Amino acid sequence: MANYTVARGTRDILGLEKKKESVVCEIIQAIASTYGYNMIETPIFESTDLFCRSVGESSDIVNKEMYTFLDKGERSITLRPEGTAGAIRLFVNNKLYNNPDLPVKMMYLGPVFRYERPQSGRYRQFKQFGFECVGLKNPYVDVELILMVKNILESLGFENLIIKLNTLGDSASRTNYVNALKDYFKPYLEGENALCPDCKRRYEQNPLRILDCKYDAEHEAIKNAPKINDYLNQESKDYFLEVLSLLKKMNVSYEVDTSLVRGLDYYNDVVFEIYQEGKNFGALGAGGRYDGLVKDIGGPLLPATGFAFGIERLVLAMEQDNLFDDLHEFDLDVLVMPLSTKCNETALKTTEFLRKNGFICEMDFMNKSLKSQFKTVERKNAPIALIIGEDEIANNTFIVKDTKKMEQVTVKEEELLDTIGDILGGMMYENND
Ligand code: HAM
Repeated sequence: MANYTVARGTRDILGLEKKKESVVCEIIQAIASTYGYNMIETPIFESTDLFCRSVGESSDIVNKEMYTFLDKGERSITLRPEGTAGAIRLFVNNKLYNNPDLPVKMMYLGPVFRYERPQSGRYRQFKQFGFECVGLKNPYVDVELILMVKNILESLGFENLIIKLNTLGDSASRTNYVNALKDYFKPYLEGENALCPDCKRRYEQNPLRILDCKYDAEHEAIKNAPKINDYLNQESKDYFLEVLSLLKKMNVSYEVDTSLVRGLDYYNDVVFEIYQEGKNFGALGAGGRYDGLVKDIGGPLLPATGFAFGIERLVLAMEQDNLFDDLHEFDLDVLVMPLSTKCNETALKTTEFLRKNGFICEMDFMNKSLKSQFKTVERKNAPIALIIGEDEIANNTFIVKDTKKMEQVTVKEEELLDTIGDILGGMMYENND
């Protein structure tokens, strides 16, 4: 028999881990909603051109990491390597630019695919929770996005966050800088001290990307390369300074990192990445401004900014910091225990009644012995066992057992909800005490 396992760089996610992801995503969505973001969904695969055009021909993603194939109609299709390109295509195709109240704020959650070398926190299929804010260029918009991301991370329980910021300048500044980098790196294309072959390609396509080379990170040429600061025009400098000053006023700590250039080509002006001290798997999330993309994808000239979290990295970091201690695989409130097959119908009705009143209930379908039903209670960590025997049915009563205190009471049908509510309420009180 063949032994099937998941493909390299992919994972099954189940049980408590899936629950952790769901909780994280629910919190992210709830907080982003308070900032006016609305959920969108785009296809998992799109035309390859979309990503080449947006993420950029010079990026590692487009060059080496895309899952690209011809479909049966000979079209070149790519599994999305990130969410921004699809979100902006959606924005353009659906003419969201006609919205009189810009910016339009969109958020999305879904799998993305990159053929990378798998390691801790780096997979070939992973999930991004992303945000795109389209329509305005204004330091307040950049700052609001950073505040939201910080707010989300703090609500998840994160401490020791490091927000790294840089500016890539507007397109005029970038052109100046790129020309300066071309002159500077020229002597390092050949000879003993040459940069790696990838950097030679980057030199032709986009020399900015040389600064981000993982292979040559310690190369003296990269360490001593000109800094963007010296090539920014006044407008770009002022914009960045205003963002920094607003962040200070909002008590956000940050580090300006002039080597931060981002791995995708569409960015300009303010870019940022968020790390946590002591974690070795790169950024928890990253993003920045991209004022040319809407137009590049066929829409009007509209500025935008955005950000995406890597969900697996958030979960990993939270596990390492024990931020999921209160989460259990099962969240059962009540296990309903019919003592014989004659009690099954009442048990089924009662279980449905309790669910309709908001309690998480399961019924034992197998009429197991009381002892083995209590083993299930233990395994599922249910605080209440509801025992239904033939005597109880005859008397229209139930036995409600508080499995933590090991106390039980017999109650009438009309007292059932209150009794269960009181036991659960008492437990919540004790847990919060
Ligand atoms: P990115 O920096 O390529 O940006 O990815 C965003 C986040 O996805 C990273 O910070 C990281 O948490 C996670 N991530 C990236 N690669 C992997 C991987 N192989 N395994 C696990 N997690 C990973 C973008 O994708 C931009 N679209 C973000 C953006 C949105 N910019 C503007 N709007």
